Amino acid sequence: MSQRFEGKVAIVTGAAGGIGRATVERLVRDGARVVATDLKDAPIDETAAAVEAIGGEVLTAAHDVRSWDDWQRVVAEGASRFGGIDYLVNNAGIEGAVAAIDESPEDVFDQVLAVNVKGVFLGMKAVIPQLRKRGGGAIVNLASVAGVIGEAAIAPYVASKHAVIGLTKSAATGYGPEQVRVNAVGPAPIETRMMRALETGLGAGEEATIKAALEERIPLGRYGTPDEVAAVIAFLCSDDARYVTGSFYTVDGGMTNY
Ligand SMILES: NC(=O)c1ccc[n+]([C@@H]2O[C@H](COP(=O)([O-])OP(=O)(O)OC[C@H]3O[C@@H](n4cnc5c(N)ncnc54)[C@H](O)[C@@H]3O)[C@@H](O)[C@H]2O)c1
Repeated sequence: MSQRFEGKVAIVTGAAGGIGRATVERLVRDGARVVATDLKDAPIDETAAAVEAIGGEVLTAAHDVRSWDDWQRVVAEGASRFGGIDYLVNNAGIEGAVAAIDESPEDVFDQVLAVNVKGVFLGMKAVIPQLRKRGGGAIVNLASVAGVIGEAAIAPYVASKHAVIGLTKSAATGYGPEQVRVNAVGPAPIETRMMRALETGLGAGEEATIKAALEERIPLGRYGTPDEVAAVIAFLCSDDARYVTGSFYTVDGGMTNY
């Protein structure tokens, strides 16, 4: 086990989901203590059990990233338990519904933007004062390949991930002088619940065909795994990325490489 994050504390949102859980496990394996948060009915206990199996320390919290009150509580609890915060991984996200714009319910747009964009904004707003107290830190925001390309069937999601990149660049510019680095990652389809939902939304009963068609668009020929995304998130938090800020790192098997 590497100890590159010894003495460091991270908050990871959406930590009961595929990429969130893998990220928590990766940061813990590398020596961090983690505040792992998710909606109150999400199976965050499974993430906590995985951390305990590794022999790491985790604080779990029920947390809706759309709520400023929740952010204030989570940050205060994390800082009080572990003595401060060094990293934030804004990972919580929803895909919304698969539908063309003219057939898309208005409330889907509001929900997707609230979680994927406002959630990231509030997270940075809540955590930056804590990073400042430590003399700097790192934030990694989950964008997507949908942050740089269009997809007709999930326009609100695409808009939200483009916005995450804008927030990332803005924060990197503003807080660089305080040694707060802010980067975004852009995964291609990753093997999690989210892709299963999107495959069904794109063609119920045709999931295997949909998946094969998506894989054809990826030069490496397959979906990624949550661990492969977690590895890049951990790199962006680490000192190896100390001169990296305002960047968008694809983790996409070459999907957007054209
Ligand atoms: N899976 C992919 O193919 C893929 C590709 C690119 C980007 N991403 C992004 O990666 C992130 C993680 O996705 P995943 O694939 O692990 O999905 P997932 O559905 O497995 O996990 C997402 C987690 O976010 C939580 N969440 C949803 N709304 C929330 C809210 N309001 N407050 C707090 N938590 C909330 C869910 O409960 C869930 O545990 C998302 O931001 C997603 O957009 C995923």
